[in-house]
Amino acid sequence: MLSSSSSDLLFLALAARLGHSDSSSSSSDDDESGSRNESTDSSSGDGDSSVSIGSVENDDEDEYEQVFIESMQNVKDNEDVRDLCAEGSYGYIQNMTNEDWEQLGRDISNHDHLGSLSITRHALEDENMSFLFRGLTKSNTIKYVTLYENDFGAEGVLAMVPFLQNVDYLEELNLNDNTITSEGFNSVFRALHGSAINYLRCSGCGIDSIKIDNDYIPRNLRILGLCHNSINADGCRELAKLLQRSLLSLELSKNSIDDEGVEILANSLCNSSLLQIDLTQNQISVEGLKLLLKVVNDISSIEATLRSNHTLNLINVVANDDAGGGGDKESEEVQQQINDTVMINRRNRNYPEAAGKEKVIHSQLNSIKRRNLAALLGVDGEVLYSEINCLHLPEVLSIIGETHGQGEIYVALRSSIAALFSTVDRKQCLQQQRAYHRAKLEAIEAEIAAIEGAQENAEVSRGVCNLASGHYTSFPTNELTSSRAVFVQPLGACCYRNK
Ligand SMILES: *[C@@H]1O[C@H](CO)[C@@H](O)[C@H](O)[C@H]1NC(C)=O
Ligand SMILES: *[C@@H]1O[C@H](CO)[C@@H](O)[C@H](O)[C@H]1NC(C)=O
Ligand SMILES: *[C@@H]1O[C@H](CO)[C@@H](O)[C@H](O)[C@H]1NC(C)=O
Ligand SMILES: *[C@@H]1O[C@H](CO)[C@@H](O)[C@H](O)[C@H]1NC(C)=O
Ligand SMILES: *[C@@H]1O[C@H](CO)[C@@H](O)[C@H](O)[C@H]1NC(C)=O
Ligand SMILES: *[C@@H]1O[C@H](CO)[C@@H](O)[C@H](O)[C@H]1NC(C)=O
Repeated sequence: MLSSSSSDLLFLALAARLGHSDSSSSSSDDDESGSRNESTDSSSGDGDSSVSIGSVENDDEDEYEQVFIESMQNVKDNEDVRDLCAEGSYGYIQNMTNEDWEQLGRDISNHDHLGSLSITRHALEDENMSFLFRGLTKSNTIKYVTLYENDFGAEGVLAMVPFLQNVDYLEELNLNDNTITSEGFNSVFRALHGSAINYLRCSGCGIDSIKIDNDYIPRNLRILGLCHNSINADGCRELAKLLQRSLLSLELSKNSIDDEGVEILANSLCNSSLLQIDLTQNQISVEGLKLLLKVVNDISSIEATLRSNHTLNLINVVANDDAGGGGDKESEEVQQQINDTVMINRRNRNYPEAAGKEKVIHSQLNSIKRRNLAALLGVDGEVLYSEINCLHLPEVLSIIGETHGQGEIYVALRSSIAALFSTVDRKQCLQQQRAYHRAKLEAIEAEIAAIEGAQENAEVSRGVCNLASGHYTSFPTNELTSSRAVFVQPLGACCYRNK
């Protein structure tokens, strides 16, 4: 239940994200797109807010700068503007004084519509940040704040803290490529705990030591981007605290994570909310990779396979590209196995039981595949037919035939399963024999009794019964033979014929 809605959210978030970053000034869908039509949709993109300027199709920077200046004026006048986007290359930005930054901050604080604030690419240093956020201390509407590739550090980002504590609707914060360092990250993270943040990006921020306080974890955080920092095993230990929460995607490419770090993450992954983890370009050996494969398919037993995690749908460690992400042959093989397995999770999104079953069929019931996997993971390579309930064998065999073909069915039959079948048959056969002999025995006993009855009749009629007790009563001959059962017992109790 939870994982289905959260994965939907992730896809929504990713979709929103794509839509959002595609053009630097989109998002005014609410205004006009309702009256528009599919055919014109593709060409819109950045046309909406610059309608007044005309239908010019060139992405001249001056034009964007004009849009920014107009939007800024609208913010000041509390007109309906959803987006405010600026870059460091704008002359207007370069001319801004500290007072201008503070005023802009105040105007945004007092504005009732702005949904997205984006000031990027060398527009902001520590000092400008301080002034901007001296004015900008709250917002009841902002959902997206994008400040990537500026030149501020911990001091600049610390200036944001009051703002971050006062933005109830903030969903995304992008601080990529500012050297905010561990100090800045830890403070921002803490400040966000009461917010609605679900997407936090701090890649390339010079972070090497993370501190996460369990009581200050943003409860809606879905995606955390921390690529290109210096996070090591200690950082993984802290990040593991997030995996038991709401996190869906953790981006840790290009850090200093080794096998110890992977082990920490893998142990928490088994029981996490995570769907995607990117660990490319770290210091992870094939042994670390195996730990991750085990998370999604522990082939040590069928039971373990069924208990593996069936929700992770992306685990990247060895990248195929030439950017240094490639590994040795064995690592690539394990990554390939991981890819195949998470593909099963993907195919069975929201149906973990179906994923588990598919994994058993593809990895446990295919002797070749299982032998390969077993060799990789260092477990016993024999197919585990003995774990299968005999009652399910016909179904299992038919599945093997359908998915792996006659060859595998033959292997299955010839190897362990044949032995198992003969055991089953032997038991059934003995049971049948027992039932047969029981019936036979009853018939024999009945016949003996009948013969004895007849003899007794004869003896009774002849009057030669040895009366050891006084219970004997005499019956007429035909009555006795017709009710043999009644007769046999009193006869046994009272008559001894030891001759
Ligand atoms: C799109 O426009 C055409 C013609 O202008 C119209 O017939 C059609 O109903 C419109 N579709 C939608 C979804 O508005
Ligand atoms: C920036 O300031 C300079 C000097 O005051 C001025 O010439 C220039 O027009 C200004 N640029 C913008 C975009 O305001
Ligand atoms: C930001 O502040 C620095 C001083 O720390 C100043 O040199 C720079 O021009 C300011 N940048 C902008 C875009 O205002
Ligand atoms: C799994 O997570 C729950 C809380 O989300 C926790 O109570 C439980 O101990 C965890 N189990 C393992 C095996 O880590
Ligand atoms: C796998 O992860 C999901 C969340 O994505 C979690 O609910 C589930 O308990 C995990 N499965 C196992 C077997 O740990
Ligand atoms: C595994 O999948 C990822 C994408 O999901 C891809 O980039 C990578 O090249 C694949 N690796 C192998 C070994 O197939």
